[in-house]
Amino acid sequence: MKPLFIVLEGPDASGKSTQLKLLSEALGAQGIPVVATREPGGTPVGEKLRELVLAPGLAIHPLTELLLIVAARHEHVEKVIRPALADGQWVLCSRYTLSSLAYQGWGRGLDRDLIRQLNELATGGLEPDHVFLLDLPPAVAYGRTRERDRFEGEGLEFFTRVRVGYLELIRSVPRSHVLDGTLPPERVLGEILAHLPLSGI
Ligand code: TYD
Repeated sequence: MKPLFIVLEGPDASGKSTQLKLLSEALGAQGIPVVATREPGGTPVGEKLRELVLAPGLAIHPLTELLLIVAARHEHVEKVIRPALADGQWVLCSRYTLSSLAYQGWGRGLDRDLIRQLNELATGGLEPDHVFLLDLPPAVAYGRTRERDRFEGEGLEFFTRVRVGYLELIRSVPRSHVLDGTLPPERVLGEILAHLPLSGI
């Protein structure tokens, strides 16, 4: 079977990192080789760009922010995602192109066509096989975040726009599923596994 590229999306504190871990373990237990990674980051250059993009109190122009995130994405696709898939490993990734559309497009108000073009440039058109959106009411997501990086320091209105963006975007993404991020982690994992073509593995 062809290795799958699976993306988890959703607001801050929606449980993406927990699901990344649980899903890696569940797939690993079935003998599937898995690479778990995240954006922005996932490579040495990407992690440095991540530090810059998230640094609290650092004023960054929205377009600069987008360009940094997209640069990290290109590095990630070329150095981690494509090589892993070519090697037969499944890739589980927390955040990908939809995050840029939801956060920089709906959240920051940047032109969505421009973001799509930059995503295309960064990924060379590599699309995930499955996208899971962990949906959460903005007030819950906001209430759950303890740390305040540059995004988490944004107000509730920002997170409300991001959620509207996600829910609109996800409708046109093939093989995508919206999951209730308020459910216990094991339930969310169960739903993710139920959508994956695992029988016979
Ligand atoms: P992440 O580490 O996933 O945060 P969390 O674990 O709290 O969900 O992502 C860090 C921040 O980067 C997050 O607030 C959203 C932001 N981000 C964007 O704005 N655009 C993007 O394209 C990506 C990948 C992340």
